[in-house]
Amino acid sequence: MAEPMAKTSSNTPRNLSGNQRHFLDLCDLSATEIRAIVDGAHRIKARRRAPLASDKVLSGKSIAMIFEQPSLRTRMSFDMGIRELGGESIMVTGKEIELGERESIADTARVLSRYVDGIMIRILSHSQLVELAQHATVPVLNGLTKTSHPCQVMADVQTFEEHRGNISGKTISWVGDSNNVLRSWVEAAAKLEFTIKVATPEELQPDPKLVEWAKANKADLRLMRDPNAAVEGSDCVVADAWVSMGDKDGKRRHNLLKPYQVNARLMEVAGPQAIFMHCLPAKRGEEVTNAVMDGPQSVVFDEAENRLHAQKSVLAWAYGESFA
Ligand code: CP
Ligand code: NVA
Repeated sequence: MAEPMAKTSSNTPRNLSGNQRHFLDLCDLSATEIRAIVDGAHRIKARRRAPLASDKVLSGKSIAMIFEQPSLRTRMSFDMGIRELGGESIMVTGKEIELGERESIADTARVLSRYVDGIMIRILSHSQLVELAQHATVPVLNGLTKTSHPCQVMADVQTFEEHRGNISGKTISWVGDSNNVLRSWVEAAAKLEFTIKVATPEELQPDPKLVEWAKANKADLRLMRDPNAAVEGSDCVVADAWVSMGDKDGKRRHNLLKPYQVNARLMEVAGPQAIFMHCLPAKRGEEVTNAVMDGPQSVVFDEAENRLHAQKSVLAWAYGESFA
């Protein structure tokens, strides 16, 4: 990972009024909070076409969305989710506001807090995300940094549970690079008490600080080299791009990760009980083949849809609300 993790424990800045909270990393939340967010996501999905009046938790609220990096899912699902909860969104790119260049991140946070009720941001630097939260007086939500992608994993847990029931006690197998999405999976594994087996090349192992955090927090994290060993008998195989946003060593990663492709043969080793997940966008023919992406075990488009539902539940949580 390009940037060492800014923190591995519950030190989320808390300078918010009332019941407001930042959503920066899953490690900052209690197991009860994470469970409540996932349960809320299941409920709000089930009544999407007939919401309760009390579901409009963003009524009268505006959320700024800042994208320093490209996005399809995060941008569209947050925008739709905010609308469906009765709120409004304003989108700017990091380029448009020269994020971190034209003025400090702290001043950006102070100014935005005077205009809007919340800030959702995609920014590579995790420490800049934390800095923004430290100086904002409205909730800040992590829409992906180089370090973590907690909204994604909330949707992933929701998706898993739709297909395989409660995730506690189940086994998730991660195959490929140790990236931002994996970190959020490991944090979720500790909180929701499931096993996570991780197969990576020696050169792309998870950050030792994350492994230390996992141990201290009793996560059942198992690191290995062999993808077959990681997936055999698993409930879910997860892949992600070999080259993430901000990675500069694409050629090296392709060479290292070639043996980690999720293909029909690997899914056969996993077994028919295993579902396949990928946060998307996928590079078909690299980390995953068409046969797996479009095959019967794949739930990748449910997963993409669930970004909408899971993030609604995250937004509700950020304002001290929930979908009962
Ligand atoms: N999975 C995900 O975050 O997709 P986008 O980069 O398109 O937002
Ligand atoms: N690991 C990927 C996730 C994209 C949603 C990246 O950071 O580019």
